[in-house]
Amino acid sequence: MKVGIVGCGFIGTELSKFIDENNDFKLIGLNDIDKSKVDILIKNLNQKPKLMETDELIHKSELIIESASTEAVEKILKSKNLDKKHKKLLVMSTGGLIKDPNLLNKIKNCLILLPSGAISGLDAIKSVVGKIKSLRLTTTKPIRGLESAPHITKNRINLKNLKNKKVIFEGNLKEAIIGFPKNINVAATLYLASKFDDMQVKIIADPTAIYNTHEIEVIGDFGKIKTTTNNLPSENPRTSYLALLSAINILKNMKNNIKIGN
Ligand SMILES: NC(=O)c1ccc[n+]([C@@H]2O[C@H](COP(=O)([O-])OP(=O)(O)OC[C@H]3O[C@@H](n4cnc5c(N)ncnc54)[C@H](O)[C@@H]3O)[C@@H](O)[C@H]2O)c1
Repeated sequence: MKVGIVGCGFIGTELSKFIDENNDFKLIGLNDIDKSKVDILIKNLNQKPKLMETDELIHKSELIIESASTEAVEKILKSKNLDKKHKKLLVMSTGGLIKDPNLLNKIKNCLILLPSGAISGLDAIKSVVGKIKSLRLTTTKPIRGLESAPHITKNRINLKNLKNKKVIFEGNLKEAIIGFPKNINVAATLYLASKFDDMQVKIIADPTAIYNTHEIEVIGDFGKIKTTTNNLPSENPRTSYLALLSAINILKNMKNNIKIGN
């Protein structure tokens, strides 16, 4: 399968290395707004992908992997080359899929793959769509994973002097996306899986935390689903290591003929 990757930061680099050592895939194209990242990555790979513009990469790839930003997702969804029957799009920055729902809804042919990312329990949540009465997401992160978010800057929240954990945001999904655009993929994936409009999001800054923790509570006619995922951050403090592993698992599963979970 010919693969192109948009975004060559932590996740893009690690997925490139996985693909480079896997004969089922051929990495043909890379894209990043920072071209120097592509150059460095190409030097470290055996398969020699080319630096490509987004449209060319989408045209030439059977699997397009987005590991860049919500803006990159919107650009990919707008490409005239994407919506073809044999194409697959794996999206990491899932917040980019819900900013403008029309963009996602117009895609009819391309298969869009969303890894469970940094959370657990999506299989159960997908099963109870339409039966949910309340859905809460509570995210607790160390300070360095939250710094420079628009909500922090706008409200002049001083995280540096924080001694104990503090709730820094409570609101709905829309407000969370505006306030924490780089931390919002978990909430976006949860929304897309649950199809529940009234999700409540709480964000806690914890100066002593070593994990990025996501607690999900879903209540409905079926009972209650509660999951907690304590993630170690990756080299990128905003990105949980589990998010990378879940994307690698999607790639591995493409060949499996046994599918576990729904
Ligand atoms: N779904 C999830 O649960 C989940 C979990 C963790 C991270 N993520 C998301 O995955 C994405 C990648 O994470 P990462 O840790 O590799 O981030 P990163 O910051 O290490 O790398 C992102 C790379 O994308 C590039 N980039 C940014 N905007 C671009 C654009 N418009 N076009 C092309 N390149 C662009 C940057 O220059 C950078 O090299 C981020 O958006 C992150 O928020 C999702």
